[in-house]
Amino acid sequence: MALTFRQLHPHFAAEVSAVDLRQVHNEATLAEIRAGMDEYAVLVFRGQPLSDDEHLAFARRLDGRLHSKTGSSVLYKNRLGNEALSDISNVDEHGGLLKPDDRRRMYSLGNRLWHTDASFQDPAGRYSMLSAKIVPPVSADTEFADMRAAYDALPAEIKARVEDLRVHHSIAHSRQILGFEFSSHEQEALKGAIHPLVRTIPRSRRRSLYLAAHAARIIDWPVPEGRLLLRDLMEHATQPEFVYRHAWQVGDLVIWDNRATMHRARPFDDGTYRRELRRVTTLDVDQPSAVTSPS
Ligand SMILES: [Fe+2]
Repeated sequence: MALTFRQLHPHFAAEVSAVDLRQVHNEATLAEIRAGMDEYAVLVFRGQPLSDDEHLAFARRLDGRLHSKTGSSVLYKNRLGNEALSDISNVDEHGGLLKPDDRRRMYSLGNRLWHTDASFQDPAGRYSMLSAKIVPPVSADTEFADMRAAYDALPAEIKARVEDLRVHHSIAHSRQILGFEFSSHEQEALKGAIHPLVRTIPRSRRRSLYLAAHAARIIDWPVPEGRLLLRDLMEHATQPEFVYRHAWQVGDLVIWDNRATMHRARPFDDGTYRRELRRVTTLDVDQPSAVTSPS
C-alpha cells in the first residue's frame, strides 16, 4: 500500500492517508511508516478504532520492544492492568473524574511541561503512540516541538558548545518543579538516566536537541550554570516556529519520535470534562530498518 503524507507544519508533522492500522502487517507498509517517522517525526492517523491489544500489537510490529517503566508505576497501580499501556486520562479506577487533589492528577499535571517520554530511563522511549478514546468538547490539545529544526537553527557557537555535553534526566526533578513531593522510597526508585544533549537520529542522520523538563543538570557542570543553559535551549526550541499543535478527534492515533521532538499537554477544565487516551511507547534500542531489504 502506498501511503501519502500531508505535511501539517513547515518543519515537521504529517497526516497520513486513510489506512486501517489493525490490518497493517506487511513489512513494506510498516517500512513506509518508519520512513515517514524519519522525515516528519510526528504522524497523525485519523479513524483508528484500536482496542488496547491491537494498539500494543501494532506498536510491536512497527518498532519492536515496548517500554513498561515510564514513571507512574513507582507511584500507583495502573488502572489498565498493563504497565506497557499508559493511562493518559483524568479518570479513576471507578470511572469517575479524578478529584482536584488526587495524587495521580497532581503527578500527571507534569505532562503539561515540555518533555520527551521516559528520558529519565535507560533505555529511554523512542516512539510514543497515543490513541484518543474520549476527548472533551473544548480544546484539550497536545503541542509538539521539532527538536531537529531547533538544533539546525542554533548559532554555530552554541552548536559547538553543546556538542559533547551529557545531561542527567530525572522525573523527580520535573515533578519537583511543580512542587510534587516524592517519598524517599520513590526517590530511590527514580534515580534517572544520563543521555547526550545532542543526538543523531540513526536512519535520517539528522541532529536533534534531546531536552525535557526532566533534564536536571549537565554532567560535570555547576548545577545552576547547567540549568541556565538547559533553560535557554528549552526556550529556543519551543518558539512558535518550531511548534505544531494537535487538536484531538476520537479515533486519532498520533505517533511521535521522542528522540526528535518534545511535547506537552495543554490545560483544559479536567474537573468537568472527561479525557481518555492510551499511550504505548517503544524502547529506544536497536530499530527495524525503514527500507525493505532486497531478498
Ligand atoms: Fe508525554
